Amino acid sequence: MAPQFGDYQYEIYLDGLQGVLPDHPMTFAGLAAGAEAALPPSVWSYVAGGAGDEHTQRANVSAFERWGLVPRMLVGARQRDLTVDLFGLSLPSPLFMAPVGVLGLCAQDGHGDLATARAAARTGVPMIASTLSADPMEEVAAEFGDTPGFFQLYTPTDRELASSLVERAEAAGFRAVVVTLDTWTTGWRPRDLATANFPQLRGHCLANYTSDPVFRSRLAKSPEDDPQGAVAHFSGVFGNPLGWADLPWLRSLTTLPLLLKGICHPEDVRRARDAGIDGVYCSNHGGRQANGGLAALDLLPDVVAAADGLPVLFDSGVRSGADVLKALALGATAVGVGRPYAYGLALGGSAGVVHVLRSLLAEADLIMAVNGYPALADLSSALRRAPGGIG
Ligand code: FNR
Repeated sequence: MAPQFGDYQYEIYLDGLQGVLPDHPMTFAGLAAGAEAALPPSVWSYVAGGAGDEHTQRANVSAFERWGLVPRMLVGARQRDLTVDLFGLSLPSPLFMAPVGVLGLCAQDGHGDLATARAAARTGVPMIASTLSADPMEEVAAEFGDTPGFFQLYTPTDRELASSLVERAEAAGFRAVVVTLDTWTTGWRPRDLATANFPQLRGHCLANYTSDPVFRSRLAKSPEDDPQGAVAHFSGVFGNPLGWADLPWLRSLTTLPLLLKGICHPEDVRRARDAGIDGVYCSNHGGRQANGGLAALDLLPDVVAAADGLPVLFDSGVRSGADVLKALALGATAVGVGRPYAYGLALGGSAGVVHVLRSLLAEADLIMAVNGYPALADLSSALRRAPGGIG
């Protein structure tokens, strides 16, 4: 039987009979307020902030309000099945954790990547581990338990280094490689500019580089003896403005499923298909990279249509179980969250992440129960534009 995620609410109500209240907030707003209080101000700004005046970041969230799920009665949806198949992997739910490059800083002990991987192990929700990590990818992967993990590649300009990172990901047991395309340079982020704060330039979350034999071979002195030299070399090789001509090379790096993150235009989807990519990941980086864009959710239907059956991962603006269902109804194969679990991590380490993931899944599951959708396939016919919604 597929897991019934909604049962989380019974655990909480039963604990309440013993006078025990949930350790962590039950709403996104509560998580955000708690994380703001828990994190140093510069880390909070970096995680919560986005590009420009953050219009696109807000649009990502408000776009979900223009859609609604229509209930069906007398369906008796006693059992719900949220399982999905992704690249031959059978996952208990369509939820995943988007790559977040400062998890190390979000956790009180500095090891947020490991804590997040442990939350993946406990929930079955896959983590896409960022290239930017406070612990090496091998140590992150060792915490996944039976849950598959995916590796997110920021492709360096040094091709041998790129190849080494991907080889290490394969050897460490990652099950797919996600290449992020929208961040070869950093977008204009006023909050971080105002504090002149960019964590990696301060040496944070570079463990995948400093542990890499190719990266180390390029340095005059070891990163342990000359941390500044390592940071300088990192900033020199980090951003690679890839072109379509680079895709055959990227494809040649691995036999693992290869996905492209940041794909929002149907023509780009078609070109990715032609290049033998295994899936596209529709995302605008949570509004952190380019302001002035449409909500990612509004771009999803055209991406799905162009994908023509190719898996489509989605993130940007997902804040609730209802949002997860709406993205699925618009054709996403799997749906990611970024800030929500980063806030859970800031508040409660691995347990905080588990709470956030279980809450998202419980809400999604209970909406399916109440609204009479036993299976994810029932969602597409349940979605309507809200009256008065724009566009
Ligand atoms: C990110 N994101 C990101 N993406 C990526 O491919 N590699 C990375 O290292 C990071 N780092 C990162 C740091 C922080 C602090 C945030 C908030 C986000 C983007 C992330 O994968 C995802 O696209 C967004 O977070 C999704 O939007 P929401 O859920 O945060 O609205």
